[in-house]
Amino acid sequence: MRSLEKSEQLFRLSQQTLAGGVSSTLRNVMKPVPLYLEKAKGSRVWDVDLNEYLDYVMGYGPLILGHSDPELLEEVQKATLDGQQFGMQHWAEIELSRMIVDQVPCAEKVAFSGSGTEAVMLAVRLARAFTGKQKIIRFEGHYHGWYDGIFTSFPDTIDEDLSAYAGTQGQSENALKDILVVPWNDSKKLEAVMVEHGHEVAAIITEPVLCNAGCIYPVEGYMECIRRLTSEYGSLFILDEVITGCRVASGGAQEWLGIMPDLTTMGKAIAGGYSLSLVAGRREVMDLISEGRVAHLGTLNGNKVALSAGVATLNIINRNNGELFKRLERVSEALVEGLRVLLAAKEIPHVINRIGSVFHLMFTELKEVVHYSQFMARDAVKYSAFAEAALMEGVLLRPSGLWYVSAAHSMEDVQITLQRLESAIDRL
Ligand SMILES: Cc1ncc(COP(=O)(O)O)c(C=O)c1O
Repeated sequence: MRSLEKSEQLFRLSQQTLAGGVSSTLRNVMKPVPLYLEKAKGSRVWDVDLNEYLDYVMGYGPLILGHSDPELLEEVQKATLDGQQFGMQHWAEIELSRMIVDQVPCAEKVAFSGSGTEAVMLAVRLARAFTGKQKIIRFEGHYHGWYDGIFTSFPDTIDEDLSAYAGTQGQSENALKDILVVPWNDSKKLEAVMVEHGHEVAAIITEPVLCNAGCIYPVEGYMECIRRLTSEYGSLFILDEVITGCRVASGGAQEWLGIMPDLTTMGKAIAGGYSLSLVAGRREVMDLISEGRVAHLGTLNGNKVALSAGVATLNIINRNNGELFKRLERVSEALVEGLRVLLAAKEIPHVINRIGSVFHLMFTELKEVVHYSQFMARDAVKYSAFAEAALMEGVLLRPSGLWYVSAAHSMEDVQITLQRLESAIDRL
């Protein structure tokens, strides 16, 4: 039986001075206690009680190379020796923006920021400035960050008037008045909304695959429908690739699924665990920044450490014709197949939806989860108990069911994970 005594002590101590005891609200849902980590390497982490874990939280997604990849660390260290933050221009900005333009289908120009939320904020601002319109269509169950103008209650409450509901107390009452929340994957509904509101819609924003709620794929023709409607009504198509960018392919999900948005947002994996995000897209839209018509600000924008980490990460993932993605695919597939066999043997009804090295495991009696409502019907309580049992057996999982595999995970890790999870299930 693992002892988590020191983590428990530190969590109590932390709550005395750190609001909520964690630095991002979701982290306090980890059971039996939010872990305090001592060190991490590759696919593994160790907590302050010296327990070792195979990690599938992977920093909430950025760690595509795993923890402390030696080459990434060396490049970051080299860059840091010559200064860490200039607030002025440097070569890595040019280098990384060129790499993004080369590898991301819709990218003609790029703007850097620090978090996914900031990138979404900028993309939405660009869309409003470019189109001269105000309303933004976003979809039920999608997550695009936590600023007042986009953050809605989760699960969203859909009603006929498409209103967005605040995701937190303290949110400006006016911030969401220009947001329309529409059910995803329903072309007819979207078309009807655009017929009514298209003249005032600046942009439709969507995740390419609904990673934040079940890894649900777009139905055939849905992305094409968004593309057609946005072009027809003079609105912009924003593809939020904060999770999928540089993770499912070097050109992101837009390369994987063959989608051509006007703007895209990326974050998480692009700098392997350093704070970096970006907006990329059509030249004439991005040029609103060059022309001084759209403000793009931030003390730490273009930070040298983050940008150097971005260059190093992309160099690594692009090497040998994308061999890293093939490897991620093999390991992720083996893990998912192993989980399916294990859960079937233990008679736990489940569905796993996967895009590359990201997948969602849901406990459900349903045969498939292809709609948000089916995702919402999963047994979240049972899964959370499973995640807790897994933690006690040495496998770190997000209680939501979203898993990230990194290039540091091996086939041997997969086998060990499955053995540990078998014990976790027996513990349930
Ligand atoms: C699709 C998507 N967009 C935006 C964000 C916000 O990114 P950040 O947490 O870096 O602000 C997230 C975060 O998980 C995300 O999944």
